[in-house]
Amino acid sequence: MPDQLSNRTELKLRDVESASKMMRRYYRTVKETMRAMAGYLPAMRWWPGKKLLARHIWLDSLHADMLRLRTLDLRYPRVDVEDNADVSLLFVLEKIPTAPSDELFLHCVYDVIKPAMLEALEEYLQVSDPLDDAPSHLYLKRIIDELNMQLHEYEGIMRESSRAADEAKNSDWLSAVSGALSSCGGFHGPDAQIDPRSTAVLEGLVYELPMEGGRDLSWEPAVTQVSPRPARNFTEEQIAVAVDHANEVWASETPAALIWEYKNMPWELYLGAARWCYDEIRHATMGVERLAALGLEVGVDYPMVPDHWRAFRARGVRYLLLLLHRLEQGGPRHKSNLKTKFIEKNDLAAAQDCDYDWADESGHISYGVAWLKAVFPEWSKQQTIEEGNKISSEWSHWIGNHHKNGTHGYEGFLERMDKKLTASGHSTDI
Ligand SMILES: [Fe+2]
Ligand SMILES: [Fe+2]
Repeated sequence: MPDQLSNRTELKLRDVESASKMMRRYYRTVKETMRAMAGYLPAMRWWPGKKLLARHIWLDSLHADMLRLRTLDLRYPRVDVEDNADVSLLFVLEKIPTAPSDELFLHCVYDVIKPAMLEALEEYLQVSDPLDDAPSHLYLKRIIDELNMQLHEYEGIMRESSRAADEAKNSDWLSAVSGALSSCGGFHGPDAQIDPRSTAVLEGLVYELPMEGGRDLSWEPAVTQVSPRPARNFTEEQIAVAVDHANEVWASETPAALIWEYKNMPWELYLGAARWCYDEIRHATMGVERLAALGLEVGVDYPMVPDHWRAFRARGVRYLLLLLHRLEQGGPRHKSNLKTKFIEKNDLAAAQDCDYDWADESGHISYGVAWLKAVFPEWSKQQTIEEGNKISSEWSHWIGNHHKNGTHGYEGFLERMDKKLTASGHSTDI
Protein backbone atom coordinates (compact mmCIF):
# COMPACT_ATOMS: atom_id res chain seq x y z
CA MET A 1 0.00 0.00 0.00
CA PRO A 2 2.60 2.67 0.94
CA ASP A 3 4.55 1.87 -2.27
CA GLN A 4 1.50 2.43 -4.41
CA LEU A 5 0.75 5.69 -2.65
CA SER A 6 4.17 7.17 -3.08
CA ASN A 7 4.49 6.74 -6.89
CA ARG A 8 8.26 6.40 -6.55
CA THR A 9 8.97 6.21 -10.28
CA GLU A 10 7.27 9.51 -11.02
CA LEU A 11 9.43 11.60 -8.74
CA LYS A 12 11.04 14.58 -10.49
CA LEU A 13 12.46 16.88 -7.93
CA ARG A 14 15.14 18.80 -9.71
CA ASP A 15 13.00 21.86 -10.36
CA VAL A 16 11.43 24.26 -7.89
CA GLU A 17 7.98 24.25 -9.43
CA SER A 18 7.55 20.47 -9.01
CA ALA A 19 8.97 20.61 -5.49
CA SER A 20 6.60 23.42 -4.63
CA LYS A 21 3.55 21.52 -5.89
CA MET A 22 4.61 18.42 -3.95
CA MET A 23 5.10 20.46 -0.79
CA ARG A 24 1.59 21.86 -1.24
CA ARG A 25 0.20 18.34 -1.58
CA TYR A 26 2.01 17.21 1.59
CA TYR A 27 0.61 20.26 3.37
CA ARG A 28 -2.89 19.39 2.27
CA THR A 29 -2.48 15.74 3.19
CA VAL A 30 -1.36 16.58 6.71
CA LYS A 31 -3.86 19.42 7.15
CA GLU A 32 -6.87 17.46 5.88
CA THR A 33 -5.91 14.31 7.80
CA MET A 34 -5.63 16.54 10.87
CA ARG A 35 -9.08 18.00 10.14
CA ALA A 36 -10.47 14.48 9.74
CA MET A 37 -8.95 13.46 13.09
CA ALA A 38 -10.43 16.58 14.69
CA GLY A 39 -13.83 15.77 13.19
CA TYR A 40 -13.74 12.24 14.50
CA LEU A 41 -12.37 13.11 17.96
CA PRO A 42 -15.77 13.97 19.52
CA ALA A 43 -17.20 10.68 18.22
CA MET A 44 -14.31 8.55 19.51
CA ARG A 45 -15.46 6.51 22.49
CA TRP A 46 -12.24 4.74 23.34
CA TRP A 47 -10.42 6.93 25.91
CA PRO A 48 -6.82 6.04 24.92
CA GLY A 49 -7.78 6.69 21.27
CA LYS A 50 -9.29 10.09 22.10
CA LYS A 51 -6.17 11.17 24.01
CA LEU A 52 -3.95 10.00 21.17
CA LEU A 53 -5.94 11.94 18.57
CA ALA A 54 -5.83 15.20 20.54
CA ARG A 55 -2.05 15.03 20.96
CA HIS A 56 -1.45 14.18 17.32
CA ILE A 57 -3.86 16.80 16.01
CA TRP A 58 -1.61 19.38 17.64
CA LEU A 59 1.59 17.79 16.30
CA ASP A 60 0.08 17.54 12.82
CA SER A 61 -0.95 21.19 12.91
CA LEU A 62 2.69 22.11 13.55
CA HIS A 63 3.79 19.88 10.67
CA ALA A 64 1.19 21.35 8.34
CA ASP A 65 2.36 24.80 9.34
CA MET A 66 5.95 24.02 8.30
CA LEU A 67 4.82 22.47 5.02
CA ARG A 68 2.62 25.47 4.31
CA LEU A 69 5.46 27.90 4.97
CA ARG A 70 7.79 25.93 2.74
CA THR A 71 5.22 25.85 -0.09
CA LEU A 72 4.88 29.60 0.16
CA ASP A 73 8.60 30.27 0.13
CA LEU A 74 9.31 28.05 -2.87
CA ARG A 75 7.37 29.49 -5.81
CA TYR A 76 4.56 31.68 -4.48
CA PRO A 77 2.37 33.04 -6.09
CA ARG A 78 2.82 30.68 -9.07
CA VAL A 79 2.12 27.84 -6.65
CA ASP A 80 -0.19 28.96 -3.85
CA VAL A 81 -1.37 26.84 -0.92
CA GLU A 82 -4.93 27.87 -1.66
CA ASP A 83 -4.93 26.86 -5.37
CA ASN A 84 -7.84 24.73 -6.48
CA ALA A 85 -5.67 21.67 -7.05
CA ASP A 86 -5.44 18.19 -5.47
CA VAL A 87 -9.21 17.81 -5.75
CA SER A 88 -9.20 13.99 -5.82
CA LEU A 89 -6.91 13.77 -2.79
CA LEU A 90 -9.15 16.16 -0.84
CA PHE A 91 -12.22 14.12 -1.81
CA VAL A 92 -10.72 10.99 -0.22
CA LEU A 93 -9.35 12.62 2.92
CA GLU A 94 -12.77 14.13 3.65
CA LYS A 95 -14.21 10.60 3.84
CA ILE A 96 -11.92 9.37 6.64
CA PRO A 97 -14.25 10.33 9.53
CA THR A 98 -17.03 8.28 7.95
CA ALA A 99 -15.19 5.18 9.26
CA PRO A 100 -17.75 2.70 10.61
CA SER A 101 -15.94 2.20 13.96
CA ASP A 102 -13.23 3.63 16.24
CA GLU A 103 -11.00 0.69 15.27
CA LEU A 104 -11.32 1.28 11.54
CA PHE A 105 -10.79 5.00 11.92
CA LEU A 106 -7.56 4.47 13.85
CA HIS A 107 -6.47 1.72 11.49
CA CYS A 108 -7.01 3.97 8.47
CA VAL A 109 -5.07 6.89 9.97
CA TYR A 110 -2.25 4.99 11.66
CA ASP A 111 -1.79 1.86 9.56
CA VAL A 112 -2.51 3.34 6.13
CA ILE A 113 -2.18 7.13 5.87
CA LYS A 114 0.62 7.98 8.29
CA PRO A 115 3.00 5.15 7.24
CA ALA A 116 2.46 6.13 3.58
CA MET A 117 3.12 9.79 4.44
CA LEU A 118 6.29 8.78 6.26
CA GLU A 119 7.49 6.86 3.24
CA ALA A 120 6.65 9.70 0.86
CA LEU A 121 8.62 12.23 2.93
CA GLU A 122 11.60 9.88 3.24
CA GLU A 123 11.62 9.48 -0.55
CA TYR A 124 11.51 13.24 -1.00
CA LEU A 125 14.62 13.53 1.17
CA GLN A 126 16.42 10.88 -0.86
CA VAL A 127 15.83 12.48 -4.24
CA SER A 128 16.07 16.19 -3.39
CA ASP A 129 19.23 18.25 -3.01
CA PRO A 130 20.25 18.74 0.64
CA LEU A 131 21.94 22.06 -0.12
CA ASP A 132 19.62 23.70 -2.68
CA ASP A 133 16.52 22.49 -0.85
CA ALA A 134 17.96 22.63 2.69
CA PRO A 135 14.93 24.25 4.41
CA SER A 136 12.70 21.40 3.16
CA HIS A 137 15.21 18.89 4.53
CA LEU A 138 15.20 20.48 7.97
CA TYR A 139 11.40 20.63 8.12
CA LEU A 140 10.89 17.11 6.77
CA LYS A 141 13.44 15.56 9.12
CA ARG A 142 11.57 16.95 12.08
CA ILE A 143 8.21 15.79 10.69
CA ILE A 144 9.58 12.30 9.96
CA ASP A 145 10.96 12.04 13.47
CA GLU A 146 7.64 13.03 15.03
CA LEU A 147 5.62 10.82 12.68
CA ASN A 148 7.71 7.87 13.87
CA MET A 149 6.97 8.93 17.44
CA GLN A 150 3.23 9.06 16.65
CA LEU A 151 3.27 5.56 15.17
CA HIS A 152 5.18 4.31 18.18
CA GLU A 153 2.59 5.85 20.53
CA TYR A 154 -0.23 4.29 18.51
CA GLU A 155 1.39 0.86 18.65
CA GLY A 156 1.78 1.34 22.40
CA ILE A 157 -1.94 1.87 23.06
CA MET A 158 -2.92 -0.91 20.65
CA ARG A 159 -0.56 -3.36 22.33
CA GLU A 160 -2.11 -2.63 25.72
CA SER A 161 -5.64 -3.07 24.45
CA SER A 162 -7.47 -6.13 23.32
CA ARG A 163 -8.82 -4.31 20.27
CA ALA A 164 -8.81 -6.51 17.23
CA ALA A 165 -7.86 -5.17 13.81
CA ASP A 166 -9.49 -8.19 12.15
CA GLU A 167 -12.47 -6.08 11.18
CA ALA A 168 -10.15 -4.12 8.87
CA LYS A 169 -9.36 -7.11 6.72
CA ASN A 170 -12.94 -7.41 5.52
CA SER A 171 -13.95 -3.79 5.36
CA ASP A 172 -15.31 -2.52 2.03
CA TRP A 173 -14.98 0.98 3.43
CA LEU A 174 -11.26 0.59 4.12
CA SER A 175 -10.61 -1.05 0.74
CA ALA A 176 -12.37 1.86 -0.95
CA VAL A 177 -10.35 4.49 0.96
CA SER A 178 -7.07 2.66 0.29
CA GLY A 179 -7.96 2.17 -3.38
CA ALA A 180 -8.93 5.82 -3.75
CA LEU A 181 -5.70 7.02 -2.15
CA SER A 182 -3.63 4.83 -4.45
CA SER A 183 -5.43 5.87 -7.60
CA CYS A 184 -5.68 9.62 -6.84
CA GLY A 185 -1.95 10.18 -7.29
CA GLY A 186 -0.77 9.24 -3.80
CA PHE A 187 0.90 11.83 -1.60
CA HIS A 188 3.47 13.00 -4.16
CA GLY A 189 0.89 13.67 -6.89
CA PRO A 190 0.10 14.91 -9.45
CA ASP A 191 -3.58 14.60 -8.72
CA ALA A 192 -5.35 11.91 -10.76
CA GLN A 193 -8.85 10.58 -11.23
CA ILE A 194 -9.97 8.12 -8.56
CA ASP A 195 -10.72 4.52 -9.46
CA PRO A 196 -14.52 4.49 -10.05
CA ARG A 197 -14.90 1.34 -7.89
CA SER A 198 -13.71 3.36 -4.89
CA THR A 199 -15.78 6.40 -5.79
CA ALA A 200 -18.90 4.24 -5.92
CA VAL A 201 -18.46 3.23 -2.24
CA LEU A 202 -17.37 6.65 -0.97
CA GLU A 203 -19.48 9.10 -2.98
CA GLY A 204 -22.55 9.36 -0.77
CA LEU A 205 -20.74 9.24 2.58
CA VAL A 206 -20.90 12.50 4.51
CA TYR A 207 -19.60 12.82 8.06
CA GLU A 208 -21.68 14.73 10.60
CA LEU A 209 -20.40 15.64 14.05
CA PRO A 210 -22.16 13.67 16.80
CA MET A 211 -24.75 15.29 19.06
CA GLU A 212 -22.80 14.24 22.17
CA GLY A 213 -19.13 13.55 22.76
CA GLY A 214 -18.47 9.79 22.86
CA ARG A 215 -17.37 8.34 26.19
CA ASP A 216 -15.68 5.04 26.90
CA LEU A 217 -18.15 2.17 26.79
CA SER A 218 -16.69 0.71 29.97
CA TRP A 219 -17.72 3.79 31.99
CA GLU A 220 -20.95 4.22 33.95
CA PRO A 221 -23.18 6.98 32.55
CA ALA A 222 -24.33 10.10 34.44
CA VAL A 223 -26.13 13.29 33.47
CA THR A 224 -24.00 16.00 35.12
CA GLN A 225 -20.30 16.12 35.87
CA VAL A 226 -20.80 18.42 38.88
CA SER A 227 -21.57 16.61 42.10
CA PRO A 228 -24.89 17.51 43.72
CA ARG A 229 -23.09 17.37 47.11
CA PRO A 230 -20.86 20.39 47.79
CA ALA A 231 -17.37 19.60 49.16
CA ARG A 232 -17.44 19.10 52.95
CA ASN A 233 -13.69 19.00 53.64
CA PHE A 234 -10.34 19.53 51.91
CA THR A 235 -10.18 16.01 50.43
CA GLU A 236 -13.56 16.59 48.79
CA GLU A 237 -12.36 19.95 47.50
CA GLN A 238 -9.31 18.28 45.95
CA ILE A 239 -11.63 15.73 44.36
CA ALA A 240 -14.05 18.36 43.05
CA VAL A 241 -11.23 20.30 41.36
CA ALA A 242 -9.80 17.11 39.85
CA VAL A 243 -13.22 15.90 38.62
CA ASP A 244 -13.74 19.32 37.07
CA HIS A 245 -10.35 18.96 35.34
CA ALA A 246 -11.11 15.41 34.18
CA ASN A 247 -14.33 16.63 32.60
CA GLU A 248 -12.57 19.19 30.42
CA VAL A 249 -12.80 16.64 27.61
CA TRP A 250 -15.75 18.61 26.19
CA ALA A 251 -13.41 21.62 25.99
CA SER A 252 -11.08 19.52 23.82
CA GLU A 253 -13.96 18.27 21.69
CA THR A 254 -15.25 21.78 21.03
CA PRO A 255 -12.21 23.26 19.20
CA ALA A 256 -11.79 19.90 17.45
CA ALA A 257 -15.39 20.17 16.23
CA LEU A 258 -14.73 23.72 15.00
CA ILE A 259 -11.75 22.51 12.96
CA TRP A 260 -14.02 20.07 11.17
CA GLU A 261 -17.21 22.10 10.94
CA TYR A 262 -15.63 25.21 9.44
CA LYS A 263 -13.85 24.47 6.19
CA ASN A 264 -11.52 26.91 4.42
CA MET A 265 -10.97 29.16 7.43
CA PRO A 266 -7.73 31.19 7.81
CA TRP A 267 -4.93 28.77 8.71
CA GLU A 268 -4.10 30.50 12.01
CA LEU A 269 -7.55 29.60 13.37
CA TYR A 270 -6.89 25.88 12.86
CA LEU A 271 -3.43 26.19 14.38
CA GLY A 272 -4.84 27.76 17.55
CA ALA A 273 -7.75 25.31 17.79
CA ALA A 274 -5.40 22.32 17.43
CA ARG A 275 -3.31 23.49 20.38
CA TRP A 276 -6.47 24.25 22.36
CA CYS A 277 -7.77 20.74 21.67
CA TYR A 278 -4.56 19.15 22.96
CA ASP A 279 -4.30 21.41 26.03
CA GLU A 280 -7.78 20.47 27.19
CA ILE A 281 -7.08 16.75 26.90
CA ARG A 282 -3.93 17.39 28.95
CA HIS A 283 -6.04 19.17 31.56
CA ALA A 284 -8.49 16.26 31.60
CA THR A 285 -5.61 13.83 32.00
CA MET A 286 -4.23 15.89 34.90
CA GLY A 287 -7.57 15.37 36.66
CA VAL A 288 -7.68 11.65 35.90
CA GLU A 289 -4.14 11.23 37.27
CA ARG A 290 -4.81 13.23 40.46
CA LEU A 291 -7.90 11.11 41.12
CA ALA A 292 -6.01 7.89 40.36
CA ALA A 293 -3.47 8.95 43.02
CA LEU A 294 -6.41 9.04 45.47
CA GLY A 295 -7.41 5.54 44.33
CA LEU A 296 -10.41 6.76 42.26
CA GLU A 297 -11.17 5.35 38.84
CA VAL A 298 -12.69 7.29 35.95
CA GLY A 299 -16.20 6.19 34.96
CA VAL A 300 -16.45 4.07 38.12
CA ASP A 301 -15.91 6.37 41.12
CA TYR A 302 -16.59 9.66 39.35
CA PRO A 303 -18.32 10.43 36.05
CA MET A 304 -16.88 11.79 32.84
CA VAL A 305 -19.84 12.98 30.79
CA PRO A 306 -20.51 15.24 27.79
CA ASP A 307 -23.00 17.43 29.66
CA HIS A 308 -22.21 20.78 27.98
CA TRP A 309 -22.78 19.20 24.55
CA ARG A 310 -25.91 17.52 25.85
CA ALA A 311 -27.28 20.90 26.88
CA PHE A 312 -26.29 23.04 23.88
CA ARG A 313 -25.06 21.00 20.90
CA ALA A 314 -28.45 21.25 19.17
CA ARG A 315 -27.84 25.00 18.70
CA GLY A 316 -24.67 24.32 16.69
CA VAL A 317 -21.00 23.99 17.50
CA ARG A 318 -20.49 27.76 17.58
CA TYR A 319 -22.68 28.01 20.69
CA LEU A 320 -20.45 25.48 22.44
CA LEU A 321 -17.56 27.76 21.53
CA LEU A 322 -19.45 30.70 23.01
CA LEU A 323 -20.03 28.83 26.28
CA LEU A 324 -16.45 27.55 26.44
CA HIS A 325 -15.02 31.02 25.86
CA ARG A 326 -17.32 32.56 28.45
CA LEU A 327 -16.40 29.96 31.08
CA GLU A 328 -12.70 30.30 30.28
CA GLN A 329 -12.65 34.01 30.91
CA GLY A 330 -12.66 33.42 34.66
CA GLY A 331 -10.12 30.58 34.29
CA PRO A 332 -6.76 32.31 34.88
CA ARG A 333 -7.89 34.04 38.10
CA HIS A 334 -9.65 30.91 39.40
CA LYS A 335 -6.67 28.65 38.66
CA SER A 336 -4.15 31.05 40.16
CA ASN A 337 -6.25 31.19 43.37
CA LEU A 338 -6.39 27.40 43.43
CA LYS A 339 -2.63 27.23 42.99
CA THR A 340 -2.13 29.42 46.08
CA LYS A 341 -4.60 27.34 48.06
CA PHE A 342 -3.03 24.01 47.11
CA ILE A 343 0.43 25.28 48.01
CA GLU A 344 -0.87 26.37 51.43
CA LYS A 345 -2.30 22.87 51.94
CA ASN A 346 0.92 21.28 50.66
CA ASP A 347 -0.74 19.56 47.68
CA LEU A 348 2.10 20.46 45.31
CA ALA A 349 1.00 18.17 42.45
CA ALA A 350 -2.43 19.85 42.25
CA ALA A 351 -0.78 23.29 42.57
CA GLN A 352 1.49 22.52 39.62
CA ASP A 353 -1.46 21.29 37.50
CA CYS A 354 -3.32 24.54 38.17
CA ASP A 355 -0.22 26.61 37.43
CA TYR A 356 0.32 25.06 33.98
CA ASP A 357 -3.40 25.03 33.25
CA TRP A 358 -3.47 28.75 33.98
CA ALA A 359 -0.64 29.33 31.48
CA ASP A 360 -2.56 27.44 28.76
CA GLU A 361 -5.81 29.25 29.49
CA SER A 362 -4.43 32.66 28.55
CA GLY A 363 -3.78 31.30 25.03
CA HIS A 364 -7.28 29.82 24.87
CA ILE A 365 -8.89 33.18 25.51
CA SER A 366 -7.19 34.67 22.46
CA TYR A 367 -8.08 31.64 20.27
CA GLY A 368 -11.67 31.99 21.49
CA VAL A 369 -11.87 35.68 20.58
CA ALA A 370 -10.53 34.98 17.07
CA TRP A 371 -12.93 32.07 16.47
CA LEU A 372 -15.95 33.96 17.81
CA LYS A 373 -15.25 36.84 15.41
CA ALA A 374 -15.03 34.32 12.56
CA VAL A 375 -18.20 32.33 13.32
CA PHE A 376 -20.39 35.21 14.56
CA PRO A 377 -19.22 37.94 12.15
CA GLU A 378 -22.51 39.80 12.60
CA TRP A 379 -22.09 40.24 16.40
CA SER A 380 -20.57 43.35 17.94
CA LYS A 381 -18.21 42.99 20.92
CA GLN A 382 -21.06 44.03 23.22
CA GLN A 383 -23.44 41.47 21.75
CA THR A 384 -20.83 38.72 22.12
CA ILE A 385 -20.46 39.61 25.81
CA GLU A 386 -24.23 39.62 26.34
CA GLU A 387 -24.76 36.31 24.50
CA GLY A 388 -21.89 34.79 26.50
CA ASN A 389 -23.48 35.87 29.79
CA LYS A 390 -26.82 34.51 28.65
CA ILE A 391 -25.55 31.04 27.76
CA SER A 392 -23.45 30.84 30.91
CA SER A 393 -26.49 31.54 33.06
CA GLU A 394 -28.54 28.98 31.09
CA TRP A 395 -25.77 26.47 31.81
CA SER A 396 -25.89 27.15 35.57
CA HIS A 397 -29.67 26.65 35.49
CA TRP A 398 -29.31 23.42 33.53
CA ILE A 399 -26.96 21.96 36.15
CA GLY A 400 -28.98 23.45 39.03
CA ASN A 401 -32.22 21.93 37.75
CA HIS A 402 -30.72 18.47 37.48
CA HIS A 403 -29.42 18.77 41.05
CA LYS A 404 -32.75 20.07 42.32
CA ASN A 405 -34.79 17.43 40.51
CA GLY A 406 -32.44 14.58 41.41
CA THR A 407 -31.83 13.79 37.72
CA HIS A 408 -28.03 14.19 37.89
CA GLY A 409 -27.29 10.46 37.84
CA TYR A 410 -24.56 10.89 40.47
CA GLU A 411 -25.77 8.75 43.39
CA GLY A 412 -23.91 5.57 42.50
CA PHE A 413 -20.67 7.48 42.00
CA LEU A 414 -20.87 9.17 45.41
CA GLU A 415 -21.50 5.84 47.06
CA ARG A 416 -18.55 4.14 45.39
CA MET A 417 -16.29 7.14 45.93
CA ASP A 418 -17.07 7.30 49.67
CA LYS A 419 -16.46 3.58 50.08
CA LYS A 420 -13.09 3.71 48.35
CA LEU A 421 -11.93 6.78 50.26
CA THR A 422 -12.89 5.21 53.58
CA ALA A 423 -11.18 1.95 52.66
CA SER A 424 -7.99 3.73 51.59
CA GLY A 425 -7.88 5.76 54.82
CA HIS A 426 -8.54 9.16 53.23
CA SER A 427 -10.45 11.43 55.52
CA THR A 428 -14.14 11.79 54.72
CA ASP A 429 -14.79 13.64 58.00
CA ILE A 430 -17.18 16.52 57.64
FE1 LIG B 1 -8.69 23.61 30.51
FE1 LIG C 1 -9.10 26.17 28.29
